[in-house]
Amino acid sequence: MKYRFFLLIAAFLVPASVPAAGGSDIKLDHYEYSFRNKTSLQNGARLFVNYCLSCHSAHFMRYNRMAEDLGISEQVVRENMIFDDRKIADPMTVTLKREDGEAWFGIAPPDLTLIGKLRDPDWLYTFLRSFYKDDSTVSGWNNSVFPNVAMPHVLWTRQGIQKPIYTTSVDDVGRETTKISGFELVREGTLTREEFDHAMEDLTNFLYYMAEPKREDRIRWGVWTMFFLFFFATLAWFLKREYWRDVD
Ligand code: HEC
Repeated sequence: MKYRFFLLIAAFLVPASVPAAGGSDIKLDHYEYSFRNKTSLQNGARLFVNYCLSCHSAHFMRYNRMAEDLGISEQVVRENMIFDDRKIADPMTVTLKREDGEAWFGIAPPDLTLIGKLRDPDWLYTFLRSFYKDDSTVSGWNNSVFPNVAMPHVLWTRQGIQKPIYTTSVDDVGRETTKISGFELVREGTLTREEFDHAMEDLTNFLYYMAEPKREDRIRWGVWTMFFLFFFATLAWFLKREYWRDVD
């Protein structure tokens, strides 16, 4: 019984998104999400439907919900974000069949609605900017945050082509380890580095929003609820002291 109680407490204390697994000790760049920044979310949504929705679905998000949350008119969504006969109230599914995804990439591209629960914004932001050319992989691309990822670098025309810079370090017992410490741009893309980073911030913001659209409201209500409980607990304690004064 006691054990179950501690398990319950632990469940509340464990953060909702766990940092990247995978054994890589790569340093992640920080990105501070903001769901209040509607311009950023709108740009992220535009990038998502244009570059990601061809392989990845976002099953649990409907076009009209996204339109309402992000302040995009339904007409704009219908004309610029839906490319087939889907309706505005339909979920953001993908026409790519699972078997085809497995056959082409070796693994079907996962649904991305809840990716923000699995990966935090720092991971997503760094991942999207860490693709590099690698002729030893099937797709010809690799990623320093997700080694041997089956996903090709779909935004390479925008970012350009990166080559990794390796550094070798020697530990206390003389063991040498080589790891990627940065990138060098070997071919320019259509965007400058700052523009590309900015676009990836917006895309990360949108991915994180999809995983929990009401996240900021939940945190705000949580703080108010704690404040409310603390206030009334204090009041109850004074009241109890008052009632029991004569008895004691
Ligand atoms: C050509 C198909 C294709 C496109 C387009 C594509 N992806 Fe992927 N993506 C994949 C595949 C395949 C995987 C699975 C990789 C693996 O597990 O090795 C993947 C994996 C991912 C992951 C990692 C999921 C995890 O397991 O943590 C993220 C995040 C992701 N994609 C984001 C995006 C975003 C954002 C876009 C749009 C810019 C995009 N992808 C476009 C094929 C694609």
